Amino acid sequence: MDIKNGFVATVGNTPLIRLKSFSEETGCEILGKAEFLNPGGSVKDRAALYIIEDAEKKGLLKPGGTVVEGTAGNTGIGLAHICNAKGYKCLIIIPETQSQEKIDTLRTLGAEVRLVPAVPYKNPNNYVKVSGRVAAEMENSIWANQFENLANRNAHYETTGAEIWAQTEGKVDGWVAATGTGGTYAGVSMYLKDQNPKVRCVVADPMGSGLYSYVKTGEIKSSGNSITEGIGNSRITGNMEGAPIDDAIQIDDQECVRVIYQLLNQEGLFMGGSVGINVGAAVALAKQMGPGHTIVTVLCDGGGRYQSRLYNPEWLASKGLAI
Ligand SMILES: Cc1ncc(COP(=O)(O)O)c(C=O)c1O
Repeated sequence: MDIKNGFVATVGNTPLIRLKSFSEETGCEILGKAEFLNPGGSVKDRAALYIIEDAEKKGLLKPGGTVVEGTAGNTGIGLAHICNAKGYKCLIIIPETQSQEKIDTLRTLGAEVRLVPAVPYKNPNNYVKVSGRVAAEMENSIWANQFENLANRNAHYETTGAEIWAQTEGKVDGWVAATGTGGTYAGVSMYLKDQNPKVRCVVADPMGSGLYSYVKTGEIKSSGNSITEGIGNSRITGNMEGAPIDDAIQIDDQECVRVIYQLLNQEGLFMGGSVGINVGAAVALAKQMGPGHTIVTVLCDGGGRYQSRLYNPEWLASKGLAI
């Protein structure tokens, strides 16, 4: 019998999908790790599970306890599902600029949701810092702290990275992904480099994020902005520290949207915005490396979470991104 033991056992082991139109266009194999097929709908289910199980193993999270986190949405959704499945409470602090779909989903899942103004990380009222303070003041609670908690990247080292290596039978030349916490990028890069130091590991970055300039010049500097959610950063998180980085590729929103609609119309894949940055960067990396290479990236979440924005022509036009 092939039966999964509940939500928790259903996280991970996602398919690796060949993106036909992008592969044909570049003469490379462009492969997307189908993280939108996780039971909570995103790549963040893996980090959420590892963070909770790490706290359980360390005796920090006790029955009836509360998991507190500051999140742009997907980590909160993963945590809320796992808290329900394991009998914990979940409290999420989220910037009010995030999509209504994600906020509504969190509430439907039973999480307590507190909206806070979107302010930069250096501001003490930034959502991440608020979540740390709230957790510190609450009895029987843990702060998931996904940006600094290395259980996050361990999830991707032990599962996502290992799965990609096994699924390609070690035939992977390039790995490219945008970073939010950096858990996915760092964990996978570290695993792949441990198997074969020649795998080219490249950070994909949206406009408005400082990592592209950091990789190119050593200085964190950003310009412009992006409609994408959950990615981009203006600091080196604990999860990114020590991660191998061979190069960085910047993708603007116009290219991101073009890629998203190619995924929808030619591949049949209904994807979230960060996937447009990832696949756009995979195509750029394929062009740099030349035909015959295998490039892997992540399909982080599905498009349903962005219906009112990315898939709303009027909203896109209001951002100067008419399709
Ligand atoms: C839609 C989406 N894509 C990409 C990421 C980035 O993943 P990571 O935090 O592992 O860098 C996130 C993180 O929240 C996300 O929500």
